Amino acid sequence: MSNKRFYIETYGCQMNFADSEIVNSILLDEGMQPVEEAEEADVIFINTCSIRENAETKVWNRLKEFRSLKKTKNDLTVGVLGCMAERIRDKIIEQEQLVDMVVGPDAYRDIPQLLTRVDDGRKAVNVLLSLEETYADITPVRTSGNGVSAFISIMRGCDNMCSFCVVPFTRGRERSRPMDSILNELRQLSEEGYREVTLLGQNVNSYKTDDADFTTLMDQASRVDPEMRLRFSSPHPKDFPEDLLYLIGNRPNLCNYIHIPAQSGNDNVLERMRRPYTREQYLELIDKMRRAIPGLSLSTDIISGFCGETEQEHADTMSLMEQVRFDLAYMFSYSERERTLAHRKFEDDVPEDVKKRRLTEIIGRQMEIQEERNRMEIGRQHLVLAEGPSKRSEHQLCGRTDTNKMVVFDRENYQKGDYVAVQIHDCTSATLMGNALYKSSVREYYSDTVQA
Ligand code: 5AD
Ligand code: SF4
Repeated sequence: MSNKRFYIETYGCQMNFADSEIVNSILLDEGMQPVEEAEEADVIFINTCSIRENAETKVWNRLKEFRSLKKTKNDLTVGVLGCMAERIRDKIIEQEQLVDMVVGPDAYRDIPQLLTRVDDGRKAVNVLLSLEETYADITPVRTSGNGVSAFISIMRGCDNMCSFCVVPFTRGRERSRPMDSILNELRQLSEEGYREVTLLGQNVNSYKTDDADFTTLMDQASRVDPEMRLRFSSPHPKDFPEDLLYLIGNRPNLCNYIHIPAQSGNDNVLERMRRPYTREQYLELIDKMRRAIPGLSLSTDIISGFCGETEQEHADTMSLMEQVRFDLAYMFSYSERERTLAHRKFEDDVPEDVKKRRLTEIIGRQMEIQEERNRMEIGRQHLVLAEGPSKRSEHQLCGRTDTNKMVVFDRENYQKGDYVAVQIHDCTSATLMGNALYKSSVREYYSDTVQA
């Protein structure tokens, strides 16, 4: 195994990227060598996403490209990892002859053994889901990324069963990783110079171990390194812990940014989606958040054209967005997924052109709101964590505010990893432009903030 070269390509959510870092670690332990291009590899892994049909289509197309590569390179192994594994293992291996190996999200420890099976000329499959696996003892190896911000997975799976969502089927039951192992990983990242970490889970406010709930975890995590900023994704509106809001409001290194998926602004749609909150409860939560955390920025997820959605129900989503005025939104048109409750129970009856039109309306309005909100930032100051050169120019740096807004400013003598006080002078709907004022730190910059 040891001299083999491997390449991992990752699709989907941040959780999947975090998983690829686990796989990376497992393969490096086997003595395998990472390479940057698929063409150079002996083993290609594709870490897949099933959340919407277009995510799967992308993977299928990529697998076809790998098949051509296989024709020119006899001993090339192709493995499918992640969320698509279970659902399509038979199709992948038997009908299409595209891949040699299929590994579900809970079976990555088995990869070395599965690779041996492939070497013996057999197909290798492990798509078993687990009730315990959190990979707590495996330290992810981060080869991509900017060396400044990282993800840590704190739990796996989801028990919520939203009717549109395939995740409970692809990733299994909810389970939380022990707090100690999370805190240890944070310490290690801090020592390596990382300055910002996002704690990840499909449903972070359900984090629960013998000794901690999610608020305890955030409290402990924020004490590891006061100069390390923390974010988390994603919480559920149905049971967001109120004490966490006060903690965020008082702890300078807990970012004033919350991603809180609404999905729809209409009660009937929310009920069909099996989202156990009403529009009013959602709005009350937003109010509470804004009261507890001054300067809070908010983002959300919206699904447009869910089963049975009427024009009025769509209008309610538009008005919710109007009312909340999110700083950022991830907006999707509904994509029916096999096995979900919606697939079994409801008809995917909003015509494609109507879905598209509604989504365009939602995105259009959100872009306007975003630009309006960004305009309000002009003249303000933010503490920006420099992540690296901007896309456009080596002479500029880009980085995020505490509120998760991307800022571009002239490099001068500042470096990646610096906290820089920046004054905003211009914006687009996606980016703020600013002038760097001085180098600072979390403690220095927020020294007037109350420490709880
Ligand atoms: N169709 C469209 N969007 C979906 N999402 C989840 N399932 C679907 C689906 N079947 C969206 C939700 C979720 C985000 C991660 O993806 O908005 O919050
Ligand atoms: Fe895609 Fe969901 Fe799997 Fe993430 S958990 S890769 S979003 S299907």
